[in-house]
Amino acid sequence: MTTASDGPKKLFIKTYGCQMNVYDSQRMAEAMGAEGYVLTEDQSQADMVLLNTCHIREKAAEKLYSDLGRLKPLKAERPDLKIGVAGCVAQAEGDEIIRRMPIVDLVVGPQAYHRLPAMVKKGGGVDTEFPVEDKFEHLPKAPATRRAPAAFLTVQEGCDKFCAFCVVPYTRGAEVSRPVSRILTEARDLVARGVREITLLGQNVNGWHGEGPGGGEWGFGRLIRAIAEIDGLDRIRYTTSHPNDMADDLIEAHGSEQKLMPYLHLPVQSGSDRILKAMNRKHTAEEYLRLIDRIRAARPDIMLTSDFIVGFPGETDEDHRATLKLVEEVGFGTAFSFKYSPRPGTPAYDRPEVESVLADARLQELQALLSRQQKAAQEGMVGRELSVLFEKPGRNDGQMVGKSDYLHAVFVEAPEAKVGDLVRVRITHSAANSLAGELLAA
Ligand code: SAH
Ligand code: SF4
Ligand code: F3S
Repeated sequence: MTTASDGPKKLFIKTYGCQMNVYDSQRMAEAMGAEGYVLTEDQSQADMVLLNTCHIREKAAEKLYSDLGRLKPLKAERPDLKIGVAGCVAQAEGDEIIRRMPIVDLVVGPQAYHRLPAMVKKGGGVDTEFPVEDKFEHLPKAPATRRAPAAFLTVQEGCDKFCAFCVVPYTRGAEVSRPVSRILTEARDLVARGVREITLLGQNVNGWHGEGPGGGEWGFGRLIRAIAEIDGLDRIRYTTSHPNDMADDLIEAHGSEQKLMPYLHLPVQSGSDRILKAMNRKHTAEEYLRLIDRIRAARPDIMLTSDFIVGFPGETDEDHRATLKLVEEVGFGTAFSFKYSPRPGTPAYDRPEVESVLADARLQELQALLSRQQKAAQEGMVGRELSVLFEKPGRNDGQMVGKSDYLHAVFVEAPEAKVGDLVRVRITHSAANSLAGELLAA
């Protein structure tokens, strides 16, 4: 019989889904760290396994159950192993998870993470309550360890938009903005720990709003300007935004705020007005295109990325062609495209589905177009002088890899450099999924 080795208890976390889950996993690791748990990369050595799950598409949710199935032998060998399910499947299915998979000891929804350490002490349970307080405020303070140079910071959670296909309003709850003072404190703390780039996160991050220090309402653009004042912070990004929340102030910030990177992920989902309406997106294709014009007027070199769903109930060939046309008109740097997945509890769930082979063919066609655009955008970087923030050593000796302003991975020969350096680089080459560049004199 194997047992986890002596010493501090070991926690293994697997994260599925969006960046908010990545951020939450980090915070849960810190909270459990205060209880004496250290992270392990080796599941077989863990005293506790935590699966931080995603419910967005059926495949994502089913992944949890196949991973739990694979944990059964480990739990049989070591009955004291604690297995926890967190995230959006936990919120959506609650104690149903334990009924279906009795090896699970605890189920904790995304709004209840501050109660995780207490649940673990108690030996398990189910907590999917939506508290009124800020869950982040109640998580134990992290020890002041160095951090990687690029970090996430959640400023907003939840969604009130209720797109007809989407589970997020149910799994993450109503839109809540974290207060300015807490965001600024956390951002300053990250910078003090070596962070030079912060990506502000929210399901509708640009819907963030709050009260400024002297009273008065702040929008997201104002928040970005306040964060940009932090010395030592060089880059700001944000994701994900909704077209209807792109306020003038935010568009302006893209023109005037040097630290705000020229990159914007702005999901549109479809280029057909009929489908946009059926999806409850509350804007037309034309409105999206005019918005892009305004954003490009403020920041001509901005790179745009998006999300698309093909095969939404009722989608015809004509609707699909409208999506392709929109993609042609905008020219995206990259984009995610998904085949529609009916999700229980959402308004579109019971609507008649587009034939699966048809949806597959449309997805292929859209993805082919998007990859051509991605390749063109990448090749367009060759010859340009960009900044690169080194995140880790590259494959070869003396090589570093980091992200450009446009979030492309860039490999650079830089034997003297270290992780966290922000350097000027001339892009020399475009490969399948990355760029190569040479150092320019500082
Ligand atoms: N809040 C963001 C993203 C939410 S989820 C937004 O409003 O855009 C990320 C992406 O998953 C969505 O943009 C959408 O393209 C995709 N998605 C969400 N629900 C889906 C479903 N039921 N089937 C297929 N794709 C889905
Ligand atoms: Fe989902 Fe729509 Fe909300 Fe985005 S805006 S999280 S797609 S409901
Ligand atoms: Fe998935 Fe929940 Fe994020 S459903 S995409 S983990 S908000």
